[in-house]
Amino acid sequence: DGPLTILGIESSCDDTAAAILHQPIVGDAEILASVVHGQTDLHAPFGGVVPEIAARAHAEKVDLCVEEALTAANVSLLDVDAIAVTAGPGLIGGVISGVMCAKGLSASLNIPLIGVNHLAGHALTPRLTDQVAFPYLMLLVSGGHCQFLIAHGPEYFSRLGGTIDDAPGEAFDKTARLLGLRQPGGPAVQAEATKGDPKRFRFPRPLLDRPGCDMSFSGLKTALLRQRDAIIAEKGGLPVQDRADMCAGFQAAVVDVLAEKTRRALDIYLTENPSEPLLAVAGGVAANTAIRAGLETVCTDKGVTFTAPPLALCTDNAAMIAYAGLERYHTGARDGMDLSARPRWPL
Ligand code: KG4
Ligand code: ZN
Repeated sequence: DGPLTILGIESSCDDTAAAILHQPIVGDAEILASVVHGQTDLHAPFGGVVPEIAARAHAEKVDLCVEEALTAANVSLLDVDAIAVTAGPGLIGGVISGVMCAKGLSASLNIPLIGVNHLAGHALTPRLTDQVAFPYLMLLVSGGHCQFLIAHGPEYFSRLGGTIDDAPGEAFDKTARLLGLRQPGGPAVQAEATKGDPKRFRFPRPLLDRPGCDMSFSGLKTALLRQRDAIIAEKGGLPVQDRADMCAGFQAAVVDVLAEKTRRALDIYLTENPSEPLLAVAGGVAANTAIRAGLETVCTDKGVTFTAPPLALCTDNAAMIAYAGLERYHTGARDGMDLSARPRWPL
Protein backbone atom coordinates (compact mmCIF):
# COMPACT_ATOMS: atom_id res chain seq x y z
CA ASP A 1 0.00 0.00 0.00
CA GLY A 2 1.27 3.45 -0.95
CA PRO A 3 0.61 6.75 0.80
CA LEU A 4 -3.06 7.67 0.87
CA THR A 5 -4.93 10.95 0.65
CA ILE A 6 -8.56 10.77 1.69
CA LEU A 7 -11.33 13.35 1.55
CA GLY A 8 -14.01 13.25 4.26
CA ILE A 9 -17.47 14.84 4.08
CA GLU A 10 -19.88 15.39 6.99
CA SER A 11 -23.42 16.84 6.82
CA SER A 12 -25.56 14.85 9.24
CA CYS A 13 -26.69 17.59 11.64
CA ASP A 14 -26.07 21.33 11.64
CA ASP A 15 -22.43 21.46 10.50
CA THR A 16 -21.30 21.11 6.90
CA ALA A 17 -17.71 19.90 6.94
CA ALA A 18 -14.93 18.60 4.71
CA ALA A 19 -11.44 17.43 5.60
CA ILE A 20 -8.33 16.03 3.96
CA LEU A 21 -6.21 13.40 5.70
CA HIS A 22 -2.89 12.07 4.50
CA GLN A 23 -1.44 8.76 5.56
CA PRO A 24 2.22 8.17 4.66
CA ILE A 25 3.44 4.63 3.91
CA VAL A 26 4.89 4.49 7.39
CA GLY A 27 3.41 6.58 10.18
CA ASP A 28 0.20 8.04 11.46
CA ALA A 29 -2.56 9.78 9.52
CA GLU A 30 -2.22 13.54 9.50
CA ILE A 31 -4.99 16.11 9.15
CA LEU A 32 -4.03 18.40 6.27
CA ALA A 33 -7.23 20.46 6.48
CA SER A 34 -10.52 20.40 8.37
CA VAL A 35 -13.18 22.93 7.40
CA VAL A 36 -16.48 23.32 9.28
CA HIS A 37 -19.35 25.61 8.29
CA GLY A 38 -21.74 25.74 11.25
CA GLN A 39 -25.41 26.68 10.96
CA THR A 40 -25.98 27.97 14.49
CA ASP A 41 -27.06 31.43 13.31
CA LEU A 42 -29.58 30.01 10.84
CA HIS A 43 -31.34 27.94 13.50
CA ALA A 44 -30.99 30.35 16.45
CA PRO A 45 -34.33 32.17 15.88
CA PHE A 46 -36.16 28.81 16.11
CA GLY A 47 -34.51 27.54 19.31
CA GLY A 48 -33.38 24.28 17.73
CA VAL A 49 -32.18 22.69 14.49
CA VAL A 50 -34.86 22.95 11.76
CA PRO A 51 -34.35 19.98 9.39
CA GLU A 52 -35.55 21.82 6.24
CA ILE A 53 -33.24 24.76 6.86
CA ALA A 54 -30.36 22.41 7.67
CA ALA A 55 -30.88 20.42 4.46
CA ARG A 56 -30.93 23.54 2.30
CA ALA A 57 -27.78 24.94 3.92
CA HIS A 58 -25.91 21.64 3.49
CA ALA A 59 -26.87 21.49 -0.20
CA GLU A 60 -25.57 25.04 -0.64
CA LYS A 61 -22.34 24.61 1.32
CA VAL A 62 -21.06 21.10 0.74
CA ASP A 63 -19.20 21.81 -2.55
CA LEU A 64 -17.74 24.99 -1.08
CA CYS A 65 -16.50 23.08 1.97
CA VAL A 66 -14.75 20.51 -0.22
CA GLU A 67 -13.09 23.26 -2.26
CA GLU A 68 -11.97 25.10 0.86
CA ALA A 69 -10.52 21.94 2.37
CA LEU A 70 -8.58 21.13 -0.83
CA THR A 71 -7.22 24.68 -0.98
CA ALA A 72 -6.27 24.73 2.71
CA ALA A 73 -4.53 21.36 2.33
CA ASN A 74 -2.87 22.44 -0.92
CA VAL A 75 -4.12 19.23 -2.51
CA SER A 76 -5.59 18.86 -6.00
CA LEU A 77 -8.79 16.87 -6.43
CA LEU A 78 -6.79 14.61 -8.75
CA ASP A 79 -4.51 13.67 -5.84
CA VAL A 80 -7.39 12.37 -3.73
CA ASP A 81 -7.30 8.56 -3.48
CA ALA A 82 -10.61 7.86 -1.74
CA ILE A 83 -13.73 9.59 -0.44
CA ALA A 84 -15.37 8.96 2.92
CA VAL A 85 -18.81 10.33 3.67
CA THR A 86 -21.22 10.22 6.59
CA ALA A 87 -24.08 7.96 5.42
CA GLY A 88 -26.03 8.23 8.70
CA PRO A 89 -27.40 8.42 11.29
CA GLY A 90 -28.70 11.97 11.14
CA LEU A 91 -31.12 14.38 9.52
CA ILE A 92 -31.83 12.69 6.22
CA GLY A 93 -31.83 15.82 4.01
CA GLY A 94 -28.32 16.74 5.08
CA VAL A 95 -26.98 13.20 4.86
CA ILE A 96 -28.31 12.94 1.29
CA SER A 97 -26.47 16.15 0.29
CA GLY A 98 -23.17 14.73 1.52
CA VAL A 99 -23.69 11.30 0.01
CA MET A 100 -24.69 12.75 -3.39
CA CYS A 101 -21.62 15.00 -3.44
CA ALA A 102 -19.36 12.06 -2.51
CA LYS A 103 -20.91 9.80 -5.15
CA GLY A 104 -20.43 12.44 -7.83
CA LEU A 105 -16.77 12.88 -6.95
CA SER A 106 -16.16 9.15 -6.66
CA ALA A 107 -17.74 8.44 -10.06
CA SER A 108 -16.03 11.30 -11.89
CA LEU A 109 -12.59 10.65 -10.39
CA ASN A 110 -13.03 6.87 -10.45
CA ILE A 111 -11.86 6.45 -6.85
CA PRO A 112 -13.30 4.38 -3.96
CA LEU A 113 -16.34 5.60 -2.05
CA ILE A 114 -16.63 4.67 1.63
CA GLY A 115 -19.78 5.25 3.67
CA VAL A 116 -19.12 6.03 7.34
CA ASN A 117 -21.35 5.82 10.38
CA HIS A 118 -21.23 9.22 12.10
CA LEU A 119 -21.03 7.58 15.52
CA ALA A 120 -18.06 5.46 14.40
CA GLY A 121 -16.42 8.74 13.38
CA HIS A 122 -16.75 10.08 16.92
CA ALA A 123 -15.82 6.75 18.48
CA LEU A 124 -12.62 6.31 16.43
CA THR A 125 -11.35 9.89 16.96
CA PRO A 126 -9.08 8.90 19.91
CA ARG A 127 -7.16 6.71 17.45
CA LEU A 128 -6.61 9.67 15.13
CA THR A 129 -5.58 12.10 17.86
CA ASP A 130 -3.83 9.81 20.37
CA GLN A 131 -3.10 6.60 18.43
CA VAL A 132 -5.14 4.68 21.02
CA ALA A 133 -5.11 0.89 20.46
CA PHE A 134 -8.22 -1.34 20.52
CA PRO A 135 -10.00 -2.11 22.75
CA TYR A 136 -11.03 0.96 24.75
CA LEU A 137 -14.12 2.26 26.47
CA MET A 138 -15.78 5.25 24.86
CA LEU A 139 -18.30 7.71 26.27
CA LEU A 140 -20.01 9.58 23.45
CA VAL A 141 -21.86 12.66 24.76
CA SER A 142 -23.27 15.22 22.35
CA GLY A 143 -26.44 17.10 21.51
CA GLY A 144 -27.92 14.04 19.87
CA HIS A 145 -26.14 11.08 21.45
CA CYS A 146 -25.19 9.61 24.78
CA GLN A 147 -23.81 6.11 25.03
CA PHE A 148 -21.05 3.89 26.36
CA LEU A 149 -19.33 1.86 23.66
CA ILE A 150 -16.50 -0.62 23.76
CA ALA A 151 -14.47 -0.10 20.60
CA HIS A 152 -13.09 -3.50 19.58
CA GLY A 153 -12.25 -2.69 15.95
CA PRO A 154 -12.96 -0.15 13.16
CA GLU A 155 -16.37 -1.70 12.56
CA TYR A 156 -16.91 -3.57 15.79
CA PHE A 157 -18.44 -1.78 18.75
CA SER A 158 -20.50 -3.06 21.64
CA ARG A 159 -22.90 -0.83 23.54
CA LEU A 160 -23.05 -0.99 27.33
CA GLY A 161 -25.88 1.50 27.77
CA GLY A 162 -26.94 5.04 27.05
CA THR A 163 -29.69 7.57 27.43
CA ILE A 164 -33.25 6.34 27.22
CA ASP A 165 -34.53 9.81 26.31
CA ASP A 166 -32.67 13.12 25.81
CA ALA A 167 -28.93 13.45 25.25
CA PRO A 168 -27.08 15.66 27.78
CA GLY A 169 -26.36 18.36 25.16
CA GLU A 170 -30.08 18.53 24.43
CA ALA A 171 -30.71 18.94 28.16
CA PHE A 172 -28.17 21.80 28.31
CA ASP A 173 -29.81 23.42 25.29
CA LYS A 174 -33.32 23.11 26.76
CA THR A 175 -32.11 24.45 30.10
CA ALA A 176 -30.65 27.48 28.35
CA ARG A 177 -33.97 28.06 26.57
CA LEU A 178 -35.93 27.80 29.84
CA LEU A 179 -33.63 30.30 31.51
CA GLY A 180 -33.39 32.76 28.63
CA LEU A 181 -29.75 32.01 27.79
CA ARG A 182 -28.31 31.90 24.28
CA GLN A 183 -27.88 28.80 22.09
CA PRO A 184 -26.01 26.49 21.97
CA GLY A 185 -26.92 26.08 25.61
CA GLY A 186 -23.92 24.07 26.82
CA PRO A 187 -21.33 26.85 26.94
CA ALA A 188 -23.93 29.39 28.16
CA VAL A 189 -25.13 27.18 31.04
CA GLN A 190 -21.54 26.28 31.97
CA ALA A 191 -20.61 29.98 32.15
CA GLU A 192 -23.60 30.73 34.40
CA ALA A 193 -22.87 27.68 36.55
CA THR A 194 -19.45 29.04 37.51
CA LYS A 195 -21.23 31.96 39.23
CA GLY A 196 -23.77 29.76 41.02
CA ASP A 197 -24.14 27.55 44.09
CA PRO A 198 -24.57 23.92 42.95
CA LYS A 199 -26.07 22.91 46.33
CA ARG A 200 -28.90 25.46 46.55
CA PHE A 201 -31.29 23.58 44.27
CA ARG A 202 -31.28 19.81 44.37
CA PHE A 203 -32.26 18.44 40.95
CA PRO A 204 -32.98 14.72 40.38
CA ARG A 205 -30.32 12.16 39.44
CA PRO A 206 -32.52 9.84 37.35
CA LEU A 207 -31.87 6.08 37.13
CA LEU A 208 -29.01 6.11 39.66
CA ASP A 209 -31.14 3.79 41.79
CA ARG A 210 -31.30 1.30 38.93
CA PRO A 211 -28.47 -1.04 37.98
CA GLY A 212 -26.69 -0.73 34.64
CA CYS A 213 -25.40 2.08 32.48
CA ASP A 214 -28.63 3.54 31.10
CA MET A 215 -29.29 7.22 31.73
CA SER A 216 -32.20 9.65 31.53
CA PHE A 217 -32.01 13.43 31.23
CA SER A 218 -35.51 14.51 30.19
CA GLY A 219 -36.85 14.68 33.77
CA LEU A 220 -34.23 17.28 34.65
CA LYS A 221 -35.78 19.95 32.49
CA THR A 222 -39.22 19.35 34.03
CA ALA A 223 -37.72 19.81 37.51
CA LEU A 224 -35.97 22.93 36.28
CA LEU A 225 -39.15 24.33 34.76
CA ARG A 226 -41.04 23.83 38.05
CA GLN A 227 -38.26 25.49 40.04
CA ARG A 228 -38.10 28.41 37.63
CA ASP A 229 -41.87 28.97 37.75
CA ALA A 230 -41.87 28.76 41.54
CA ILE A 231 -39.21 31.49 41.71
CA ILE A 232 -41.05 33.66 39.18
CA ALA A 233 -44.35 33.24 41.08
CA GLU A 234 -42.64 34.25 44.30
CA LYS A 235 -40.38 37.06 43.07
CA GLY A 236 -42.11 38.26 39.90
CA GLY A 237 -39.06 37.43 37.81
CA LEU A 238 -35.89 35.36 37.72
CA PRO A 239 -33.05 37.16 39.53
CA VAL A 240 -29.61 36.56 37.98
CA GLN A 241 -28.28 34.82 41.09
CA ASP A 242 -31.21 32.38 41.12
CA ARG A 243 -30.55 31.67 37.47
CA ALA A 244 -26.85 31.02 38.12
CA ASP A 245 -27.73 28.73 41.05
CA MET A 246 -30.14 26.79 38.86
CA CYS A 247 -27.46 26.35 36.17
CA ALA A 248 -24.97 25.17 38.79
CA GLY A 249 -27.52 22.74 40.27
CA PHE A 250 -28.45 21.39 36.84
CA GLN A 251 -24.83 20.91 35.79
CA ALA A 252 -23.99 19.18 39.07
CA ALA A 253 -26.83 16.70 38.46
CA VAL A 254 -25.55 15.91 34.95
CA VAL A 255 -21.98 15.50 36.26
CA ASP A 256 -23.15 13.13 39.02
CA VAL A 257 -25.14 10.96 36.63
CA LEU A 258 -22.38 10.77 34.02
CA ALA A 259 -19.69 10.09 36.65
CA GLU A 260 -21.65 7.32 38.40
CA LYS A 261 -22.68 5.63 35.15
CA THR A 262 -19.09 5.88 33.90
CA ARG A 263 -17.96 4.15 37.09
CA ARG A 264 -20.35 1.28 36.32
CA ALA A 265 -19.41 1.12 32.63
CA LEU A 266 -15.72 0.94 33.63
CA ASP A 267 -16.46 -1.90 36.05
CA ILE A 268 -18.07 -3.91 33.24
CA TYR A 269 -15.38 -2.98 30.73
CA LEU A 270 -12.46 -3.73 33.08
CA THR A 271 -13.86 -7.16 33.98
CA GLU A 272 -13.46 -8.15 30.34
CA ASN A 273 -10.41 -6.02 29.49
CA PRO A 274 -8.33 -5.65 32.65
CA SER A 275 -5.11 -4.99 30.74
CA GLU A 276 -6.48 -2.13 28.59
CA PRO A 277 -7.60 0.50 31.11
CA LEU A 278 -8.58 3.46 28.96
CA LEU A 279 -11.63 5.73 28.80
CA ALA A 280 -12.01 8.10 25.87
CA VAL A 281 -14.70 10.74 25.60
CA ALA A 282 -16.02 12.56 22.53
CA GLY A 283 -18.96 14.70 21.46
CA GLY A 284 -19.69 18.38 22.07
CA VAL A 285 -20.59 17.92 25.75
CA ALA A 286 -17.06 16.65 26.37
CA ALA A 287 -16.14 20.34 26.17
CA ASN A 288 -17.71 20.87 29.60
CA THR A 289 -14.95 21.35 32.17
CA ALA A 290 -17.04 20.15 35.14
CA ILE A 291 -18.02 16.98 33.28
CA ARG A 292 -14.42 16.35 32.24
CA ALA A 293 -13.28 16.85 35.82
CA GLY A 294 -15.94 14.42 37.09
CA LEU A 295 -14.87 11.76 34.59
CA GLU A 296 -11.21 12.30 35.36
CA THR A 297 -11.86 11.74 39.06
CA VAL A 298 -13.58 8.43 38.34
CA CYS A 299 -10.70 7.35 36.10
CA THR A 300 -8.10 8.29 38.69
CA ASP A 301 -10.00 6.26 41.33
CA LYS A 302 -10.03 3.23 39.05
CA GLY A 303 -6.47 3.57 37.73
CA VAL A 304 -7.72 4.18 34.21
CA THR A 305 -6.18 6.51 31.62
CA PHE A 306 -8.52 9.29 30.52
CA THR A 307 -8.29 10.85 27.09
CA ALA A 308 -10.34 13.45 25.24
CA PRO A 309 -9.67 14.71 21.73
CA PRO A 310 -9.06 18.44 21.25
CA LEU A 311 -12.35 20.34 21.22
CA ALA A 312 -12.48 20.92 17.46
CA LEU A 313 -12.38 17.15 16.99
CA CYS A 314 -14.90 16.43 19.80
CA THR A 315 -17.66 18.34 18.03
CA ASP A 316 -18.91 17.45 14.57
CA ASN A 317 -16.18 17.59 11.93
CA ALA A 318 -15.11 15.78 8.77
CA ALA A 319 -11.60 14.79 9.90
CA MET A 320 -13.16 12.08 12.06
CA ILE A 321 -15.20 10.89 9.05
CA ALA A 322 -12.11 10.81 6.82
CA TYR A 323 -10.27 8.89 9.54
CA ALA A 324 -13.08 6.35 10.05
CA GLY A 325 -13.13 6.00 6.24
CA LEU A 326 -9.39 5.36 6.27
CA GLU A 327 -9.82 2.58 8.82
CA ARG A 328 -12.61 1.02 6.73
CA TYR A 329 -10.48 1.43 3.59
CA HIS A 330 -7.74 -0.67 5.18
CA THR A 331 -10.26 -3.41 6.01
CA GLY A 332 -11.02 -3.57 2.28
CA ALA A 333 -14.48 -2.05 2.62
CA ARG A 334 -15.80 -0.22 -0.46
CA ASP A 335 -19.25 1.14 -1.21
CA GLY A 336 -20.96 1.48 -4.56
CA MET A 337 -23.38 3.92 -6.14
CA ASP A 338 -26.12 2.14 -4.20
CA LEU A 339 -24.78 3.57 -0.90
CA SER A 340 -27.87 4.93 0.82
CA ALA A 341 -28.38 7.71 3.35
CA ARG A 342 -29.73 6.29 6.60
CA PRO A 343 -31.59 8.42 9.16
CA ARG A 344 -31.16 5.64 11.74
CA TRP A 345 -28.08 3.48 11.92
CA PRO A 346 -27.10 2.01 15.29
CA LEU A 347 -23.45 1.01 15.60
O1 KG4 B 1 -21.10 16.96 19.07
P1 KG4 B 1 -21.86 18.22 18.84
O2 KG4 B 1 -21.14 19.37 18.22
O3 KG4 B 1 -23.10 17.98 17.91
C1 KG4 B 1 -23.93 16.88 18.02
O4 KG4 B 1 -24.85 16.95 18.84
O5 KG4 B 1 -23.69 15.90 17.27
O6 KG4 B 1 -22.49 18.65 20.24
C2 KG4 B 1 -23.26 19.81 20.40
C3 KG4 B 1 -23.82 19.82 21.79
C4 KG4 B 1 -24.83 20.94 22.02
O7 KG4 B 1 -25.99 20.40 22.62
C5 KG4 B 1 -24.09 21.86 22.98
O8 KG4 B 1 -24.94 22.58 23.87
C6 KG4 B 1 -23.21 20.89 23.73
O9 KG4 B 1 -22.78 19.97 22.76
N1 KG4 B 1 -22.08 21.57 24.37
C7 KG4 B 1 -21.88 21.62 25.69
C8 KG4 B 1 -20.73 22.44 25.90
N2 KG4 B 1 -20.27 22.83 24.68
C9 KG4 B 1 -21.11 22.29 23.75
N3 KG4 B 1 -22.56 21.08 26.70
C10 KG4 B 1 -22.12 21.32 27.94
N4 KG4 B 1 -21.05 22.11 28.23
C11 KG4 B 1 -20.33 22.67 27.25
N5 KG4 B 1 -19.27 23.44 27.55
ZN1 ZN C 1 -21.88 14.22 16.23
